[in-house]
Amino acid sequence: MPQRLAVKGLAPRKPLEGTVRISGAKNSALKALAASALFRDTLRIENVPAIEDVTTMSAILGGVGVAVSSAGPHELEIDPGNVEAGGLNTELSERIRASIVLTGPLLARTGSVSFPHPGGDVIGARPIDLFLDGFRAMGAGVVSRGAIYEVNAPAGLVGADIFFRIVSVTATETLMMAAVLAKGTTILRNAAMEPEIPHLAGFLNASGADIKGAGTPTITIKGGFPLRSKGAPFTVLPDRIEAGSFAIIGALLADSLTIKNCVPEHLAILIEMLKASGVPITSAKDTISIMDNGKRANRSSRSLDVRTHEYPGFATDLQAPMTVFLTQASGEATVFETIFEGRLNYTQDLVGMGADITMGNPHEVRVRGPRPLSGRELHGPDIRAGLAYVIAAMVAEGDSVINNVHYIDRGYERIEEKLAEIGAKVERQGT
Ligand code: EPZ
Repeated sequence: MPQRLAVKGLAPRKPLEGTVRISGAKNSALKALAASALFRDTLRIENVPAIEDVTTMSAILGGVGVAVSSAGPHELEIDPGNVEAGGLNTELSERIRASIVLTGPLLARTGSVSFPHPGGDVIGARPIDLFLDGFRAMGAGVVSRGAIYEVNAPAGLVGADIFFRIVSVTATETLMMAAVLAKGTTILRNAAMEPEIPHLAGFLNASGADIKGAGTPTITIKGGFPLRSKGAPFTVLPDRIEAGSFAIIGALLADSLTIKNCVPEHLAILIEMLKASGVPITSAKDTISIMDNGKRANRSSRSLDVRTHEYPGFATDLQAPMTVFLTQASGEATVFETIFEGRLNYTQDLVGMGADITMGNPHEVRVRGPRPLSGRELHGPDIRAGLAYVIAAMVAEGDSVINNVHYIDRGYERIEEKLAEIGAKVERQGT
């Protein structure tokens, strides 16, 4: 039987309590793996989450001569010494969106790369025109042969002035890394500012790159020579999406919850919104805390509108867990998903559990609360909605089963163990 999670409903009580330690971020670790193709020497990466996507990305790297090996429970050693031009493994690359990030470093280092349209969560069309236009602007030739893109720059890439018509996290990361080995200067305008980007740029600069402005809308990269880490490890950022998900779990279901090893500043807007809703939440250096929340009924949380937005706005990856929160809050709110046109479809399953949610258009739903939810069998559609189903199942009365747990495993390490450690009744079933 494919693996699934059996979840016991806990409502209306708030029995969870304790401390949860946040793992390294999927969307930081995968980009450091991609960056390894820029390096001449061996690269060490620490605080790596033990998740499916890291295994997949490591296998894709292996296919182009970059050897990834384990150097400890959450540590990888990467030897890019035999990096070679070539094609990304189609089957593996179609599993994860992050495979596209490797194309920039590989093209810059070897002069040639071929790849399929990347896979990953089905949350919209997720085109790659910004990548292909960026490669062309940097002097590469782009040809699509059937389902495969072939990009070549035999004379190497040249710096370019690129304006992103839409803010894109992975396009910013991919072209920033390609520019590190391009001849001359590249300017990326209307760049994404997610924290993982300046974090990566800082490490590349410590290894010999010359990147200015990462974390702002304009990034300037002076191209140079392959990088050397000189033994300094890349430390994966704590996962702000996991931390935010647990803050929402705590607000709904915990008397007291301490979320350790996170960066509260990366979640400033969520913390502000939960506070405004009436949740007793505070934050310190690397910790977010919810205290004395047990006696407070969820219906005393005030509903509030959510509009997803590029960082530092409300993260689209937290939209589904926040919508579950709104089903239990008092009042009526709009959830406006501005980034992806297919990222609200999961709400129909919440309606099937008893939520009062109406979809105005693919970008917008109205949520009225509080409404009790009833447990049922669910099929997780993607990483973040999959976790939102776990939250909804814990909030529900009665038991639930969540299938497609492999989606959740793509982005969350040991999720059922972390939940059980704070008192949730979640069991993994199947082989
Ligand atoms: C990254 O996806 C993350 N994935 C996503 O997390 C996250 O939801 C998203 O950024 C937004 O924060 C990784 O980092 C691996 P975008 P990405 O390019 O880069 C459009 C998760 O659950 N666009 O910033 O693919 C696109 O359609 C995942 O961890 C183009 O039009 O997102 C979207 O509407 C889900 N052309 C908008 O830009 C392009 O060439 C922003 O998408 C590229 C993107």
